[in-house]
Amino acid sequence: MEFITTVQQMQRYAEQQRCQGRRIAVVPTMGYLHEGHLSLIRLARQHAEVVITTLFVNPTQFAPGEDYERYPRDLERDRRLCAEAGSDALFAPSVEEMYPGGYTTRVSVLGITRKFEGQFRPGHFDGVATIVTKLFLATKPHVAVFGQKDWQQTLVVRQLIRDLNFDIELVVAPTVREPDGLAMSSRNVYLSAQERQQATVLYRALRAAAERAAAGERRRRELVAAMESVLREVPVLVLDYAAAADAYTLEEPELFAPGQEVVLLIAARLGQTRLIDNERVRIPEE
Ligand code: PAJ
Repeated sequence: MEFITTVQQMQRYAEQQRCQGRRIAVVPTMGYLHEGHLSLIRLARQHAEVVITTLFVNPTQFAPGEDYERYPRDLERDRRLCAEAGSDALFAPSVEEMYPGGYTTRVSVLGITRKFEGQFRPGHFDGVATIVTKLFLATKPHVAVFGQKDWQQTLVVRQLIRDLNFDIELVVAPTVREPDGLAMSSRNVYLSAQERQQATVLYRALRAAAERAAAGERRRRELVAAMESVLREVPVLVLDYAAAADAYTLEEPELFAPGQEVVLLIAARLGQTRLIDNERVRIPEE
């Protein structure tokens, strides 16, 4: 596996692959790789001849007071896991390489970024849109693979690709979960043993609401109430939001339509750890 740390080397590598007629897939990550990330790398392999994984803990997507400094990092382990999963190259630039002195440009996606994660993490999606743009320009992919785990992020990237005319196909990969349902996340290492048990309540709440929706419940408040009643089982959980919205516009009508694709979204804090999860469900046709 190639190990690349500068944008210039990355662009040269990508250009060489393109000149040989190879399709490139990129898998952007912030590292501390887990089975969720590795499933993205394997899925990327099915869409392209060359898989480039990127590893960069992007400071601009963390608000002041968030966990940028303590975000888990283990480059040697990530390098090994990435190679084992079949990545052809790992692009791991420094902060100075991506944001050198004098850097002043920011990419802002409006609209879809106002709610949910955008509301609770001000500036987060500007940081994401900016770094994803820079990673696309560095790796020159035909395909980009992102996880459903961060559903709103996939919508932001879709909008970015459309608005800036990136000639890139977006592939969204399913969420990989622990056997008890907890969505895998680099941040799960922050959880104490007790919090790790309590954290399963997010997925149980999503499943409860998804089952109500699949059984024909179209009232948004009822779906939210179904999540909230399960979430109350863990009183120490601090809820940022539990919501049901159109899966693509994130609009929140009082009544969903038959056949409408709905996303159920939860963000909550357990002690020092912020967790997010979501589940998509289609309201049955009448
Ligand atoms: P990170 O949190 O490292 O996630 C990298 C990719 O892995 C994202 O597309 C995310 O949705 C996906 N992912 C995370 N957990 C997953 C799981 N349990 N199952 C499947 N996929 C999962 O998301 C970011 O980094 C950053 O915002 C980034 C896009 C790299 C920009 O900095």
